Amino acid sequence: MEAINHAENYLRNKAKSTEQPYQIDISNDVISISCDNQKMFGHIRIEKILHSAFQKSLGLSEKQSRHCAIIHTPAFSSDSDAQKLLPMLCYFALRQARIWHCENIIFSTKDNLNTVRTLSALLRLEPVVHLPQISAQRLNYAIHHAYEACDQTQRDVIQTYFVHEILDTFKSWVTQLFHDSWFSAVKTRSLSKEQYISTLFNLHAFVKYTTRLAARCVAICETRDLRNHYIHHLKGEINHEVIIESDLKALRADVDYLLQSYVPHTATGEFIVLQESIVSFKQDAVLMLACPFVAEGMTANITNAFVEDLHATIKSWGVKSPESVSRFLTSHMKTDGGDDGHWTRVIMMMDKYIKTENQHQQFLHILGLAMSGYAHGLNANIDDLELWRSQQTVVTSVKDEALV
Ligand SMILES: [Fe+2]
Ligand SMILES: [Fe+2]
Repeated sequence: MEAINHAENYLRNKAKSTEQPYQIDISNDVISISCDNQKMFGHIRIEKILHSAFQKSLGLSEKQSRHCAIIHTPAFSSDSDAQKLLPMLCYFALRQARIWHCENIIFSTKDNLNTVRTLSALLRLEPVVHLPQISAQRLNYAIHHAYEACDQTQRDVIQTYFVHEILDTFKSWVTQLFHDSWFSAVKTRSLSKEQYISTLFNLHAFVKYTTRLAARCVAICETRDLRNHYIHHLKGEINHEVIIESDLKALRADVDYLLQSYVPHTATGEFIVLQESIVSFKQDAVLMLACPFVAEGMTANITNAFVEDLHATIKSWGVKSPESVSRFLTSHMKTDGGDDGHWTRVIMMMDKYIKTENQHQQFLHILGLAMSGYAHGLNANIDDLELWRSQQTVVTSVKDEALV
């Protein structure tokens, strides 16, 4: 995933060039924050409840535990001001739980009474009637209050971490996507010509709107820098649907039908209506960044091995020149990927324009919808068209997968 590496390098270099008032160390489940040359520090641990010792001791079922994390007792240096780190420590702990897809946060009421009172007040923890050993809260509500309790300097530091959380969320999604039906069908070289044509039809259904959506973002942007981003994006997307049409013509697919009468698959429609809603109803050019971030993030991160598999698959259909029917996907690896590709530019804009926790929560919400819609749309080209794939190939492919 080369494009992700470019993005992470960009963010690392940016962090190095700016002096931070706090040193923050996030190593999986332990968050440590220090300042004043380590004179003042604090740390806190966050843990998934599922399969933890705590799940057993509470007698929670898998279903009850699945979207829960437990926040452990924070510890501080003896400096009396160190307690001021608590809201920021809690923020970063809850952020980690959010990356793990947790929806609820738990704290043990058996802890020291003062800590129970302080954390309950900070995170608005509430008793759980049937579980007197804990207090709990919905994560988004608790993290909102942790953020609100931070001072402006702390919030400015937190702002620089929004884009990292977005990138981590994307990474776990795209890793799963590369194992789902569509990418598995390419990897195991079992994708049928009909499934591929359906994929191009459904990609065309939203790619044909990209310039028009970008143009609408230009129209609604009050901020020059973001407006210029969309102008640049628009220019880089002109006639990209024509590349899909050319791939389809080379496959002798019915492009006239595509242009005049094709109605996209409902699963693809999820991504299309999301874009229409953000641009026309919400009219929010910052939230709209989530859609190119997902779509270009996929093409930017596909590998040369993917192209090899795709070309070998296309050859197996009797197509002599696979390059002539896969120009859309292969060209987008370059235009969307690389250190100056469309995708990195989207990341720079997200980093700059997502400024508050509330805006960040809204962005994560749209991002979740975009990821889910995009994956549904892509995988439906395989799952709903299994008729067109020989069971022999599928069985072989499942066996091959097991060996990987
Ligand atoms: Fe494009
Ligand atoms: Fe693009």
